[in-house]
Amino acid sequence: MNAFKISRRALSVALAAATLCGSAFAGEVEVLHWWTAGGEAKAAQALAATLKAKGHSWKDFAVAGGGGDSAMTVLKSRVVSGNAPAAAQIKGPSLQEWAKEGVLTNLDDVAKAEKWDSLLPGPIANGLKHKGHYIAAPVNVHRVNWLWVNPEAFKKAGAKVPTTWPEFFAAAEALKKAGIVPVAHGGQNWQDFTTFESVALGVGGTEFYKKALVQLDPATLQSAKMKEVLETFKKIKGYTDKNSPGRDWNLTTAMVIRGEAGMQLMGDWAKGEFVAAGKTPGKDFECVAAPGTAKAFTYNVDSFAMFQLKNADNIKAQRDLASTLMSPAFQELFNLNKGSIPVRTGLNLDKFDACAKASAKDFGDTAKSGGLVPSIAHGMAVPSAAQGAIQDVISQFWNSDKATAADTMKKLVSAAKVR
Ligand code: GAL
Repeated sequence: MNAFKISRRALSVALAAATLCGSAFAGEVEVLHWWTAGGEAKAAQALAATLKAKGHSWKDFAVAGGGGDSAMTVLKSRVVSGNAPAAAQIKGPSLQEWAKEGVLTNLDDVAKAEKWDSLLPGPIANGLKHKGHYIAAPVNVHRVNWLWVNPEAFKKAGAKVPTTWPEFFAAAEALKKAGIVPVAHGGQNWQDFTTFESVALGVGGTEFYKKALVQLDPATLQSAKMKEVLETFKKIKGYTDKNSPGRDWNLTTAMVIRGEAGMQLMGDWAKGEFVAAGKTPGKDFECVAAPGTAKAFTYNVDSFAMFQLKNADNIKAQRDLASTLMSPAFQELFNLNKGSIPVRTGLNLDKFDACAKASAKDFGDTAKSGGLVPSIAHGMAVPSAAQGAIQDVISQFWNSDKATAADTMKKLVSAAKVR
């Protein structure tokens, strides 16, 4: 699959849409995002092509850096200097923080005309509103609690794909003996935190996760269960390679793609990398729930907040962007590349692979069972200041040989209070 194929398809879908709505205004849309890795870039390109086909010009404001920490820093300085882009990848509680600054625009006109209220799961729609008004448009649902496995590497090592943490460490030992890096891990704060939240969910269970990492309950943050979570998390480090510190997530996924490493704990944007490399699930790679989390789902919904603009043509382009993001054709095209599933309900998933189908089923099932939880590592669960402070504590614990679980838990309680 190459980029040319995608943009041609995007182009024809979008051209048809543009002809249907007779779009006559050409504006510019400047969009801030951090989608620069293989699958991510293809997904972003599909968006650009769709907007261009509607007659608008696309100003790409990509700030590299998985998880978006750098993108958010750049965005703040642009907005402070009075030069906000038309749209920016902002999600979760941060949407409310930006809305309170009074810089976002109201998207109710598009949302009403296109019936977003009836097309989005209720809790997701609520998260995209401030004081009852839409301020952002969503594109997808990523599942974070995945384990990506190279079956060839497992076969060589005689290892069994794990569903529990004891099985995970047994597989890691076998892979190590076979000379394969057991766990591909990129040592960056947000990647440490991504691994940590899956361990917390798997070792502690859904109720523990909610109490500790959504409600930030001090007693749960400093409990025997949290000690077990931290110790399990730290044990993983012994199965990572010496080049792990600082490595980008996509280069880390590439180790699993090549069979140099056996497994990686990462959200399903990693699937975008496997697919962009021409790999097929069930054959070249496996997607399984992170150990102990089969009945749970950590969700991460990417959305674009829209800023107040002055130029009428650019406002029209911005409205077209909001409408495009939620359109059925775009939700399909984008998510096939991104590794996620459509956030718009009721779409046909025939073109999606087994991992996406499993994700969609589990998303629905966990929404009913109570196993659906927001990802703290990806900005869906707590205010951004507390998230950043907790993330730092987790990385300090991961990186230091001296840090103890007891000290770390005390620091977690303090970090949870940061606002
Ligand atoms: C997440 C984001 C995903 C993916 C990932 C790695 O926070 O929601 O879309 O881009 O970071 O960059």
